[in-house]
Amino acid sequence: MHKDSFFIRGLGGERALHGEIAVGGAKNAALPLMAALPLFENQVALQNVPAIEDVARMSELMKALGADISFEGGRMTLRGDSFGTQFDRTLSKRMRASIILTGPILSASGAVRFPHPGGCVIGKRPIDLFLESFVKMGAEIFEDGEYYVVKARNKRLCAAEIFFRVQSVTATETLMLAAVLAEGKTTLKNAAMEPEIISLADFLIASGAKIKGAGTPVIEITGAGKLNFSGSPWSVIPDRIETGSFLFLGALAGKDLKITNCNPTHLEIVIDELRRSGVAIEIGESSLKVFGAEKGVSRSFKPFDIKTHEYPGFPTDLQAPATVFLTQAAGEAQVFESIFEGRLHYVEDLVRMGAEIEMMDTHRVRIKGPAKLRGRELEGPDIRAGLAYVIAAIIAEGESAISNVYFIDRGYERVEERLRKIGADIIRTTN
Ligand code: EPU
Repeated sequence: MHKDSFFIRGLGGERALHGEIAVGGAKNAALPLMAALPLFENQVALQNVPAIEDVARMSELMKALGADISFEGGRMTLRGDSFGTQFDRTLSKRMRASIILTGPILSASGAVRFPHPGGCVIGKRPIDLFLESFVKMGAEIFEDGEYYVVKARNKRLCAAEIFFRVQSVTATETLMLAAVLAEGKTTLKNAAMEPEIISLADFLIASGAKIKGAGTPVIEITGAGKLNFSGSPWSVIPDRIETGSFLFLGALAGKDLKITNCNPTHLEIVIDELRRSGVAIEIGESSLKVFGAEKGVSRSFKPFDIKTHEYPGFPTDLQAPATVFLTQAAGEAQVFESIFEGRLHYVEDLVRMGAEIEMMDTHRVRIKGPAKLRGRELEGPDIRAGLAYVIAAIIAEGESAISNVYFIDRGYERVEERLRKIGADIIRTTN
């Protein structure tokens, strides 16, 4: 885990960002695609894979289990003829998404042994839905010290009807993957509908899986034999969270900013809110243009309330960048984080920067804008709040130092280089 920092000289209200910024492949789409490997009988090839820390951690975890992975220039090839069933403790603890791999390993090998996964400190993040669903598919679970040991009877999972009490992205993905090799038809009800789930289903279907309904709350998977990858490398969809973050940045500090390599249809709610707030956005097929006012002239944005929600509602992963935006809108706004209970702590740092934000309870804050932000020393608490700090520091007056850049690197590929190209004054220092 490196200890790099970002130093940012803020624009102090000036609208100076211009040119083009390209969006990378989505972290939360790439990780489940990688995790699908145990279901394949041959080599898998992916492209537009982001070179980010979480992809590196997933590679390490999979290599420790026996996978052969090479990665260069966004292209990844993965191969695994046989897999171990015991997860490396340290690697699993570093990333919540390690849990996705439990489904394919259990399904392909009949057993899996893993510790409670780690990840960002944004809430409790239980795994009850995963464990209960494995049991429904005929598995038995024991706890062995810090590990869960899950075993399928007769080494093969069987199909089941699974109702998720809560819509969960990774539980939907994990069980969809597990069901691909299970005997019979599995139905997932109250499934999550995020674009990353559709992308995973498309990939599996293209390789021979029988899946219906991905992108709706009911997904049916009919188990068959191992999958077969063919054709050109499968493309990871653009990161909608990175796209949305750049949109907020462009709205606040853009003179004339074009966001390329993105999928605007994945961001309807964000585009709608920003437009209603007074931000001019031009939508292309795979690009978005945000227009700012003339240099030096600040525009007044209308505030809007946010309640984070499962897709297609307002993404919790964009809650922090949206809050930074709302500190600059003229009036009062409320942000209600409905998915996670620990995802608003970062506002304390925005307050230290000069934002007027009142914490109402662990799920809600009230913001009064516009407030002048001043540069500060900041420590990124998680991936998404980390990038929100970068946005806040870019629009603030004076200098900011953001430590804990490792967290930002977990989700965004060399973001400082891309931001520098559009006019942000940001450098990385390596300790
Ligand atoms: N939940 C349970 N039991 C479970 C699983 C989840 O109660 O067994 C609850 C959670 O506590 C939460 C809700 O279900 O209240 C929804 O969480 P979900 O399971 O959907 O979150 P996740 O799958 O762990 C993914 C993303 C997150 C993103 C959330 C919500 C990946 C790898 N991670 O997490 O992304 O915030 O969905 O959209 O896809 C990030 O990228 O920074 C990140 C945190």
